[in-house]
Amino acid sequence: YEFDEPHRPQYHFSPPEQWMNDPNGMVYLDGEYHLFYQHYPDSNVWGPMHWGHAISTDMIHWEHLPIALYPDSLGYIFSGSAVIDHGNTSGLGTNGIDPMIAIYTYHHQEDPQSQGIAFSNDKGRSWTKYDKNPVLKSPGIPDFRDPKVSWYEDADGNGKWIMTLAVKDRISFYSSPNLIDWKHESDFQPDWAAYGGVWECPDLFTLKTTGGEEKWVLLVSINPGGPNGGSATQYFIGDFDGGQFSAEGEKVKWIDYGTDNYAGVTWSNIPENDGRRLFLGWMSNWQYANIVPTTEWRSAMTLPRSLELISIADEDYLASRPVAEISNLLSQNATSNENPILLENPLAEIKLKASDAGNKSIVLSNKEGESLLISMDMEQLKIDRSKAGKVDFSEVFSAIQHAPLEGLKVEEVTLYLDRSSIEIFINDGEMVMTTIFFPSSSFNSVEHTGFVQKAEIAYFQSIWK
Ligand code: FRU
Repeated sequence: YEFDEPHRPQYHFSPPEQWMNDPNGMVYLDGEYHLFYQHYPDSNVWGPMHWGHAISTDMIHWEHLPIALYPDSLGYIFSGSAVIDHGNTSGLGTNGIDPMIAIYTYHHQEDPQSQGIAFSNDKGRSWTKYDKNPVLKSPGIPDFRDPKVSWYEDADGNGKWIMTLAVKDRISFYSSPNLIDWKHESDFQPDWAAYGGVWECPDLFTLKTTGGEEKWVLLVSINPGGPNGGSATQYFIGDFDGGQFSAEGEKVKWIDYGTDNYAGVTWSNIPENDGRRLFLGWMSNWQYANIVPTTEWRSAMTLPRSLELISIADEDYLASRPVAEISNLLSQNATSNENPILLENPLAEIKLKASDAGNKSIVLSNKEGESLLISMDMEQLKIDRSKAGKVDFSEVFSAIQHAPLEGLKVEEVTLYLDRSSIEIFINDGEMVMTTIFFPSSSFNSVEHTGFVQKAEIAYFQSIWK
């Protein structure tokens, strides 16, 4: 593979060829970050799902490995998670090894979805499906999927596995001593949440507030019904007691307001001395994922991000920030006083500081005169990609995207520009928008108003070279 085809991202993960959607089975083991993903190796559109596989030592440079899981008589292999079974609770480890266990959904044309498991005793290189799959059958609801499993310990040190599962329009929690026998604990379905579509790809984890208090965070992807149409990920902050999750407040919150960050979840088994909650999303939207103008491969992942709780006007929010490891790829920061800024290389990190509280705009453009417009007033941030290149493959692709800025004082805007995507971080991740586009040639000019003249620019090397 060239990894240099038109629009191919140069510092974001994409599959070697053909179709990709959700990130799956993200787990860290012995210096390696594993990334599995929804994959159809025979076509560039969605079809019978497999788990593709790649590994990285820094979440930035990726080595593609053979497909880990193939569909079988129980169905396609839909999304799910992976854990390291410390203490071999499943008994599936051999020779004293704590196995890596994948917990995924079986999707069968005729039956409701069910959960299966597979194990690896060689650090994810080879996989065996459990011979008594499925381990969890649906009580009858067809949408019963995307298990995210984690280890839960109560104050007395008693532990069990918790499965967080998306069940149509709610989250169901199951528990297990061994990853094989599962017991229903509770359902979460607050009446004020976003229900514009089916609930998918949940995640459950703890984070500390700025005041040092531990809180539980529940991510729930939803499709359609996102703030800018189609797919998006809402989140809840609250408490989990080992059986039941309860949310604080009644405000719908989104992890990313752009159109193109979906089905994101976090890595499991990150060492305690690292302590970060590391996230990756699929950089597309079911509204047009199957028809975006790429041929050899389809879709990429977002930059890996670290999730943190922040407080704005006494309310907790989830902030996302690109992981520090991206500096492995970045040149030294240079400052630029020109406006427009001519980029030496279209793979860039661009930091702009607000000059005052007034309206702001950033226009990215190329030599063909195509442009992406980002604008901000006191109330909202808008992205207009209607003139950013190819748009006529989809009726909705040209729609203006909006994100609320009330309560936020925009001080700094950081842009991560790749050949066919931009990730916009306001004030160190207080608000994020991710969006994709397909220009005739990469954007190489940045014109800004409402920011100080001096911009900070750093360039990315390609991860494929
Ligand atoms: C989310 C999703 C999941 C499902 C998978 C199928 O994008 O619809 O709910 O497991 O994709 O590929």
